Amino acid sequence: MPTNLSVQLAPKNKPGLLLVNPVMTASGTFGYGTEYSHLFDIQKLGAIVCKGTTLEPREGSPHPRLAETACGLLNSIGLQNIGVNALIKEKSPIWASWRVPVIVNIAGEKINDYAQLADKLEGVAGISAIEVNIGCPNIKGGGAEFGANPKSAAEVTTAVKKATSLPILVKLTPNTSNIVEIAMAVAEAGADAISLINTLKGMAIDITRRRPLLGNITGGLSGPAIKPVALHMVYEVAGAVELPIIGCGGITTASDAIEFIMAGASAIQVGTASFTNPGAPLDVLEGIEQFMKQEGINNLTDLVGVARR
Ligand SMILES: Cc1cc2nc3c(=O)[nH]c(=O)nc-3n(C[C@H](O)[C@H](O)[C@H](O)COP(=O)(O)O)c2cc1C
Repeated sequence: MPTNLSVQLAPKNKPGLLLVNPVMTASGTFGYGTEYSHLFDIQKLGAIVCKGTTLEPREGSPHPRLAETACGLLNSIGLQNIGVNALIKEKSPIWASWRVPVIVNIAGEKINDYAQLADKLEGVAGISAIEVNIGCPNIKGGGAEFGANPKSAAEVTTAVKKATSLPILVKLTPNTSNIVEIAMAVAEAGADAISLINTLKGMAIDITRRRPLLGNITGGLSGPAIKPVALHMVYEVAGAVELPIIGCGGITTASDAIEFIMAGASAIQVGTASFTNPGAPLDVLEGIEQFMKQEGINNLTDLVGVARR
C-alpha cells in the first residue's frame, strides 16, 4: 500500500488547505521560495511559507542582525520585506504556476494593518492561505506582542477572519506566560490552524566592544537550542485545542519532525536548518517517509499525537 502523507490543515474552511505531505518551510528562512527553486525540487514540499509581509516595504533593523549561539541563531532582521503590493505583483504570478501551495505570512503594528493585509491577499491567484504572525509589537498596546495576551491575540484573529475567506494559520509567540490560553483564544476567534513557535527573545553581548552584539539589541532565538521548548509547547497546545497544529522550532532532522508529530502536530516547519543545509526540508520529508515504511505506517495521520495516548 502506498504511504499516505497528506494532511488537511483547514478542515472547517472551504476549499480547505490540503497538503500532500506535512513538511513546510518556516517564514523568514526560505525567502519567497523562488531563491531555492534551483537547489532542489521545492514542488515536492507540503507548503512554502514566505517571508513576513507588511503593508509597506521595510528595510529592517540596523546591522548586525545575526549572531550564532550554542546550537542556535539569534536574529533581528526586523521584518525586512518588499511589502504586500510588490508581493502581489511580482511573486504571486510565479506561485500561481506552482504545484506546492504558498502561504503568506503577515505582520503588522496595528490590528487594522493585519485586516488590510488579509483584504489585499483575498482572491489573489497563487496564495493558498495566510499565516498570521502575532509575535509583533502592538504599537497601541504599549509595544507588547499581540500574541502575549489572549485578548489582543483574539482581536487580530477576528480582524483577519473578517477580511478574508482564505484559511488562517495563527502563529503563536513563545514570549508569553501561558501559550495554552493564547491558543484557546485564537481558536475561539476562528483560526483554522495554529503554528508554533516563533523565536524566543534573547540577546548577546560583544565583550570587546562592551556593547550588545545585535544592532537592535534584542533578537529572536531559533535553531536546535529551542527544540525542547517548542516541542513542549506543541504538546501542551495540542492537548487544549481541537485545531490542526503546525510544529516549528529547531527541526533539523526527520526524527525531530516525528517527535513534533507524535506530540500532536499535523504538520511541521523547517526554519534555521535551511541556512546550513538548504535541502533540509526535503531531507526531513524523505526521512519521515522512510520511518513510516520501516514502521509499517500507511497514513501519517496515524502518527499524529501518538505520544499523548
Ligand atoms: C532569520 C529569521 C527570520 C524570521 N522571520 C520570520 C518572519 O518574518 N515571520 C515569522 O512569523 N517568523 C519568522 N521567523 C521565525 C521562524 O519562522 C521560526 O518560527 C523560528 O525560527 C523557529 O523555527 P526554527 O528553529 O526551525 O528556525 C524567522 C526566523 C529566522 C531565523
